[in-house]
Amino acid sequence: MIFKKGELFCGPGGLTLGAKMAQVEKDGVIYKVEHEWASDYDEDTCETYRYNICPDKPETVICEDVRKLDIASLPEIDAFAFGFPCNDYSIVGESKGLEGEFGPLYSYGIKVLKHHKPKWFIAENVGGLESANEGQAFIKILQEMEDVGYNITPHLYKFEEYGVPQARHRIIIVGIRKDLGWSFKVPKAPYKNPADWKTSRQALEEPPIPEDAFNHEFTKHQTKVVEMLKHIPPGENAWYEGIPEHLRLNVKGAKLSNIYKRLDPNAPAYTVTGSGGGGTHMYHYDEPRALTNRERARLQTFPDWYKFIGGKESVRKQIGMAVPPEGAKIIIEAVLKSFAGIPYETEPSKWEDELSEMLSAGKTQKSRKGSTTKQKAKNQSSAESLNEEQMEFSI
Ligand SMILES: C[S@@+](CC[C@H](N)C(=O)[O-])C[C@H]1O[C@@H](n2cnc3c(N)ncnc32)[C@H](O)[C@@H]1O
Repeated sequence: MIFKKGELFCGPGGLTLGAKMAQVEKDGVIYKVEHEWASDYDEDTCETYRYNICPDKPETVICEDVRKLDIASLPEIDAFAFGFPCNDYSIVGESKGLEGEFGPLYSYGIKVLKHHKPKWFIAENVGGLESANEGQAFIKILQEMEDVGYNITPHLYKFEEYGVPQARHRIIIVGIRKDLGWSFKVPKAPYKNPADWKTSRQALEEPPIPEDAFNHEFTKHQTKVVEMLKHIPPGENAWYEGIPEHLRLNVKGAKLSNIYKRLDPNAPAYTVTGSGGGGTHMYHYDEPRALTNRERARLQTFPDWYKFIGGKESVRKQIGMAVPPEGAKIIIEAVLKSFAGIPYETEPSKWEDELSEMLSAGKTQKSRKGSTTKQKAKNQSSAESLNEEQMEFSI
């Protein structure tokens, strides 16, 4: 059984690669996902997607602002993916949510669901979505997904528990068309025990990265930066007390925890991000330097053959925004198993107990207020030590 997939905000293809790698078999029938069409408005991103996912059908990747896309004219699909832009749902900064420029873009995904009625969909966003607009944005989005005919299962996936060598926590919502009569169950995280988490050293060294690997250019640092990095032990940052006075950063105010932070080789990496200025490029545990894009791609579980198109900063952005393919594979494989009737181990979704309350507006306000306040308090304390939207997790 082949599920033809369409995708909005396709990025460099992290989710799609996960979908491509997922395949199950039951009674001689193969269940898998195939690319049908995809869209994003960034040229380099579209080129990366075309090059790696559908080189034989480049015209199926439409490079256009979603607001101009003719959704009704897109070919029929059975599955749909949309990792809608997270810029306005981040826990740091203004967090305009639905009032921001990017916040309302999720609604184009709803339009696809309404028009094309795929059998299932997968949507992705940052953890901050839960608390944006006092918790109301998340509820509105879930409600619209439900209203257009889907049984939805939102969950906060901690990707380090799914074999990804990186602390990356993302909300993923799987929807199954209501007439199919079932709901998706969250696949049990295979690596609950931190002792089993994949480390950054394993990701970067097993196997070693060939010198001529794609996207493996090293950054030239100023001598002072190299000297400072030499004094920062693995797992520490620019505020480490052992840095000699003359090498210290002269920064007033908030001391952001991921600035010149070196990886801990014995733990998963902190969250790979796509933007941010000096000091936010992630730093190697053994060598006094920033990671290369290929190293970041390793932390995101992209295979070395996956070639990112564009300049260094464009590639950094693409890698930082993607869903780790290995994590996506586990979730999408669970969807395919559900269709095939193959049992798998499950765990409760984060909002299992309150989902129906969240979706029924009356009780919603009450039940959400508590969790939103808690989340806000958490966000405020971490905002002081973070420097950009997605830097939620700093192991
Ligand atoms: C979070 S990334 C998606 C990553 C993707 N799911 C993956 O796994 O590789 C969001 C994408 O939305 C795209 N985007 C943002 N605003 C857009 C718009 N107005 N129209 C089309 N694409 C847009 C960005 O270029 C970015 O690639």
